[in-house]
Amino acid sequence: MAGIRWPPEDSDLVQTRPATAGDLVSDDDRSVAADSWSIKSDYGSTLDDDQRHVDASDVLAGANFRAASDYSSDKDEPDANGVESSMLGLQSYWDATYAEDLANYNEHGQEGEIWFGAEVMDTVASWTRTLCLNMSKGHIVPGDNNCESVSGDTVSDLPSWSVLDIGTGNGLLLHELAKQGFSDLTGTDYSQGAIDLARNIALRDGFPNITFLVDDVLETKQERKFRLLMDKGTLDAIGLHPDGRVKRIKYWESVMNLVAPGGLLVITSCNNTKDELLQEVESFNQRSMGSQGSETGGDHAVFKYIDHIRTYPTIMFGGVEGSRVSTVAFLRNCS
Ligand SMILES: C[S@@+](CC[C@H](N)C(=O)[O-])C[C@H]1O[C@@H](n2cnc3c(N)ncnc32)[C@H](O)[C@@H]1O
Repeated sequence: MAGIRWPPEDSDLVQTRPATAGDLVSDDDRSVAADSWSIKSDYGSTLDDDQRHVDASDVLAGANFRAASDYSSDKDEPDANGVESSMLGLQSYWDATYAEDLANYNEHGQEGEIWFGAEVMDTVASWTRTLCLNMSKGHIVPGDNNCESVSGDTVSDLPSWSVLDIGTGNGLLLHELAKQGFSDLTGTDYSQGAIDLARNIALRDGFPNITFLVDDVLETKQERKFRLLMDKGTLDAIGLHPDGRVKRIKYWESVMNLVAPGGLLVITSCNNTKDELLQEVESFNQRSMGSQGSETGGDHAVFKYIDHIRTYPTIMFGGVEGSRVSTVAFLRNCS
């Protein structure tokens, strides 16, 4: 996947090698590594440097920021997509992170990281609301004639949108979606610690009706299909596993089964540009249509691009303009 890998704002950091899956398993090591990658975020964080060593969203964003000399190590060879693995692809990393976050929450009431910052989270939530309302108004009509009509009352329609946030972490995105009018909300994460944290915060903050469940999206036990699937940073994390390329393929198979026909998938990523996500979806569509013997293209595509957020701050790099975060929505076909 060719694409823009934004450099850190501090040029010293361009030379920094991100940790690989074989490295850095202890909490101390995590902090040291994260410090060495730390990049000033455009979007900020809920925690200041004194509160936490890791501005972890920057770590995730920084995982692909590599100097040309980094490619000399056999151990750290990137996969065929040019993506290098890191500890952020491992469940052990997340279990340790959320154990620490849970302890911080119990002791100080801290919620942990807002990935990509509060501004991005708010933007994603309000943009998604508009997208769903437009769909309910019939302004975005699924291309497949098998879909049921989506017209009718709009704002009051939001509670009928079943929402699943995969890799929900502390679950704060679901709070924002609740404030936007969604009420059928579920968050899943493969880390028990994340789910314990999310449940505690939701109860404290007055969102007792949000359901939180432990579930690995790649081996999901969920039988329900959701009208809206949210992913903020989870595909990024999955792609950083040593077998990230294979796991990303599995990811698309899983989310295909989790999104109801005619439903939406909204992905927010800092490791992939909008065009890279489109390319990945196109490859998945071709694979799945090929396996069903269907012709590629047209209404048979499993996922179709419908829109992306255009309001994130942009920067120039190598003569190309882009943003550090991309949010893209795909429509699931109706078959
Ligand atoms: C970058 S964090 C994002 C957390 C949250 N979505 C947010 O925006 O604050 C990635 C999350 O994905 C979860 N995760 C990674 N791989 C997963 C998988 N296969 N199944 C479920 N959750 C996963 C991690 O535990 C972590 O909570």
